Amino acid sequence: MKNPFKFGTVVDNEYFTDRINECEYITRFLSGENHLILISPRRFGKSSLVAKAVKQTGRKSITINMQNVTSVQNFSSRLMSALLKLYPIERIKHVMSHFRFVPSITTNIVTGNIDVAFMPNVDPVVLLEDAMELLERVSSQDNRMIVVLDEFQDVLSIAKGFDKQLRSIMQLQKNVNYIFLGSQESMMEGIFEKKKSPFYHFGQLMRLDRIPYDDFFGYVSERLPADVSKEILTFTHCHPYYTQQLAYHVWDMLHYESVEEDLIELTIERMVNLHDLDFERLWTSLTRQERRIMQVMSEGKVKTLLKDQSVPTSTTFSALKKLVQKGYVIKTTEYEIEDPFFGRWIKKLN
Ligand SMILES: Nc1ncnc2c1ncn2[C@@H]1O[C@H](COP(=O)(O)OP(=O)(O)O)[C@@H](O)[C@H]1O
Ligand SMILES: [Mg+2]
Repeated sequence: MKNPFKFGTVVDNEYFTDRINECEYITRFLSGENHLILISPRRFGKSSLVAKAVKQTGRKSITINMQNVTSVQNFSSRLMSALLKLYPIERIKHVMSHFRFVPSITTNIVTGNIDVAFMPNVDPVVLLEDAMELLERVSSQDNRMIVVLDEFQDVLSIAKGFDKQLRSIMQLQKNVNYIFLGSQESMMEGIFEKKKSPFYHFGQLMRLDRIPYDDFFGYVSERLPADVSKEILTFTHCHPYYTQQLAYHVWDMLHYESVEEDLIELTIERMVNLHDLDFERLWTSLTRQERRIMQVMSEGKVKTLLKDQSVPTSTTFSALKKLVQKGYVIKTTEYEIEDPFFGRWIKKLN
């Protein structure tokens, strides 16, 4: 039998649950001319949700993960090779004939990928303008392209001024809907909410929450016993990724190792041990203040943090902020440790 849980990659179909309203909202939103900004902590399901909604529109789309982009030139060639996958070269040749620099295009017959390469000494901004022009020209008012830029906060570290260059081109385009995804909330807010940022108020901001308990319980309990499902969700607090990950391993334990007693505890224990080395490395990279906070949080006593008289509140706050920036702590309705397994590992230190 196949394990009915999946974690790590974009999920769809039988591995995808809930998000009905969000999906509808995005689909409807994309019928207009505006751009969407979707923010949540990492592994909450942004990429999966957007992929599903985009698919539902039936329109052509391109996804570029900014985490993998190494330079402006590289962005341009990724964009062009994505376009060449969607449109036969005969259809777009006439636009490319206006290019200031003619790229060399090769098809990898093994992978089917199309590589686009430019001469190394060409001005990257010109390449960007040409590639973006191609994007605008192959799309039309009636058939607007959807371009998903995933982990968009990385735009800031690719090249100086890249955000400004992108924005100045994008604002003139009429045939494209952009969707910007990001997991580093403070950086994303900086990009889209700060007045001085080129992308200030460039689109509609949307936040993605965890999957609601009842929906997730329905999903897990169709595949595992109800009491087990409940325990899993209590441990993971309905975090999409960690829930699927834990459920996956619990399912394996149940079906292949016939463990029944203390099933959840045993699985958690195993997973914590498996990550011992990573957690140790993470832990030693934290400052003493950060460790203190993580320790208190692992006990589930977040509220006592700011009452602690022995440390100035400002010190605690700035350490908390750092932890959120690094992604070890997430803030939804309250602060909590992002990875419940790391939380358990820390708790064992106490
Ligand atoms: N709607 C969903 N239903 C079930 N599991 C989901 C859902 N969305 C996300 N997940 C789980 O979370 C993991 C991470 O999802 P992903 O879309 O990559 O998140 P993000 O882009 O926010 O980092 C998936 O591999 C899957 O295990
Ligand atoms: Mg993602």
